[in-house]
Amino acid sequence: MVTHRIALIPGDGIGREVTPAARAVLDTVGARHGVKFDYDEFDWSCARFRREGAMMPDDGLDLIRHHDGIFLGAVGDPAVPDHVSLWGLLIPIRRGFRQYVNLRPVKVFEGVRSPVRNAVAGQVDFVVVRENVEGEYSEIGGRLNRGFPEELAVQEAVFTRAGVTRVLDYAFALARRRRGRLTSATKSNGIVHTMPFWDELVAGLAPSFPDVGWEQEHIDALCAKLVLDPARFDVIAGSNLFGDILSDLAAAVAGSIGIAPAANINPERDFPSMFEPVHGSAPDIAGRGIANPLGAIWTAALLLDHLGHAEAAAEVEHAIAAVLAETGIRTPDLGGTAGTEEFTKAVLEYAGA
Ligand code: NAI
Ligand code: MG
Repeated sequence: MVTHRIALIPGDGIGREVTPAARAVLDTVGARHGVKFDYDEFDWSCARFRREGAMMPDDGLDLIRHHDGIFLGAVGDPAVPDHVSLWGLLIPIRRGFRQYVNLRPVKVFEGVRSPVRNAVAGQVDFVVVRENVEGEYSEIGGRLNRGFPEELAVQEAVFTRAGVTRVLDYAFALARRRRGRLTSATKSNGIVHTMPFWDELVAGLAPSFPDVGWEQEHIDALCAKLVLDPARFDVIAGSNLFGDILSDLAAAVAGSIGIAPAANINPERDFPSMFEPVHGSAPDIAGRGIANPLGAIWTAALLLDHLGHAEAAAEVEHAIAAVLAETGIRTPDLGGTAGTEEFTKAVLEYAGA
């Protein structure tokens, strides 16, 4: 029996409702594969911010540094500015633990209607690899002359050779293990310093992966192609901002943001990686028990895979696919009437509980 220690951060809103689903799936499928999970739960959240003035304690990172993985539900509260919740919790973890790869798999499952007519189940299957610690989301910059007509704001995008190369290297290697196709998101026509640099690094790395075919697309055209012909993509690599936007668009193409999983990976494993569904705390439906748990459950599969349990991870994915293909059980975001618990129970049954 292998035991993994997981730092569990349910967060706010539906984060608290979907985390138990992920946990149930990890426990059930893990048990069958000789894997046990021990959880340490942390109340880090906007709720904590409102009580104590901080999303997490000052020594937060030290408390979870030695865990095997971090599972986060979602954070966000209409009464707390979003930059507070993001910069007070998620970004410190991503940066402090050098989780420079943000991995977002996208699939159109049989039994889920995509709003995109050409998005056929079984054909759309790609992964967005987003650079996760530098790029456009930088603290460098500032505001001047506040309140005056000449007020200005400057925000510097930061692209480093090391930072871009390591995430591209991950994306190429992932494409090699998949269908051997990489699309690089760029905007080197309009953004004349950082994006040509990004393009050069892609072209420089490509010869090391002769078995991967690659192309680059400007982000605007790429967004259009993602809607018009989503099946053509295998791995899409993008900067922090481009990857962020693409992955929400992709999640919508797949049918619901409630299904979309994500992993923040430190490939060197010097630090724990963090697993979180793409969706936020969904204040509009929080507390009603109707959140779609599939995003969190698929995210649990990514955690299993990362910890070396590929077979268990595949079983979870199969269970998700089977529930959608073979039953009419669905949460309201997918056009059904089931609650979070009922939907989770159905997945657990298919996962062999
Ligand atoms: P959101 O993802 O929370 O919700 C967008 C829409 O999708 C809403 O209509 C919501 O009801 C629906 N939705 C999302 N997840 C769903 C699920 N599992 N099942 C059914 N429907 C679902 O994004 P929004 O509204 O932009 O943000 C709400 C809060 O969450 C904000 O405070 C935001 O900052 C935060 N947020 C946090 C994230 C995180 O913790 N990683 C990521 C994105 C947003
Ligand atoms: Mg986003």
